[in-house]
Amino acid sequence: MSHLLYRVRNLCFSYSLGKQKVQAIRGLSLEISKSSLVTFSGPSGSGKSTLLNILGLIEPVQEGEVFFQKENIGQMGEKRKNQIRKFEIGFIFQQFHLIPVLSAEENVRYFLSCAGLSKKEVSKRVQASLSAVGLWEHRRKRPSQLSGGQKQRVAIARAIAKRPQVIIGDEPTASLDQKTGYATMEILAQLVEKQKISVILTTHDKMVQSFSKENFHIQDGALACGSS
Ligand SMILES: Nc1ncnc2c1ncn2[C@@H]1O[C@H](COP(=O)(O)OP(=O)(O)OP(=O)(O)O)[C@@H](O)[C@H]1O
Ligand SMILES: [Mg+2]
Repeated sequence: MSHLLYRVRNLCFSYSLGKQKVQAIRGLSLEISKSSLVTFSGPSGSGKSTLLNILGLIEPVQEGEVFFQKENIGQMGEKRKNQIRKFEIGFIFQQFHLIPVLSAEENVRYFLSCAGLSKKEVSKRVQASLSAVGLWEHRRKRPSQLSGGQKQRVAIARAIAKRPQVIIGDEPTASLDQKTGYATMEILAQLVEKQKISVILTTHDKMVQSFSKENFHIQDGALACGSS
């Protein structure tokens, strides 16, 4: 159990759409080890984003069990959930979600400012994380002055600056060309290897899957045969 980052048992999740229920996850069980890069693939609408949102504590555990390390997320109070979202999970997105009026450095710094760290520690982390993604010399540029790949690297720097256990990304390479997507995956793979961070991604791309220790293929809200 101690080597596990997530343990999911019989997870079910549905959205309410007026009076209708849309069942997005149907009895899904899986385990994700610490310090590993795993991917979720599957058809559009199969439940990948929903699952990531549950693992990222954005959507609640409605039915079944999800353990984050040794803690049962379904039984967790809001305060503890906020702490985990703030300090233990880094998020990256397809559209980067950077603040346009802030420089690369300020984008990373901004999200650390409410973490209760000393000024010195914040500066140290900003420099270390921008350097880790190879962007320290571009730190004064705003997002509009950076390429797509560089923007995603700023987003990765912002995620790792909080020293999370895991980075969760919903199709983070989908808006990048193949070469830039590959370079982004190399950075994420290096983080797993050197910093022992876990990385959990959804993707439609075989190239992204080729970086994963394990790919879970999701179909109709459950693991397809042959996965895991
Ligand atoms: N906010 C919502 N309200 C109602 N239904 C939703 C909502 N979000 C997703 N769904 C439905 O839940 C199911 C799973 O959607 P989800 O977004 O998790 O799929 P996905 O595998 O990420 O798809 P894609 O590859 O297109 O991103 C789909 O049937 C979708 O229509
Ligand atoms: Mg999705």
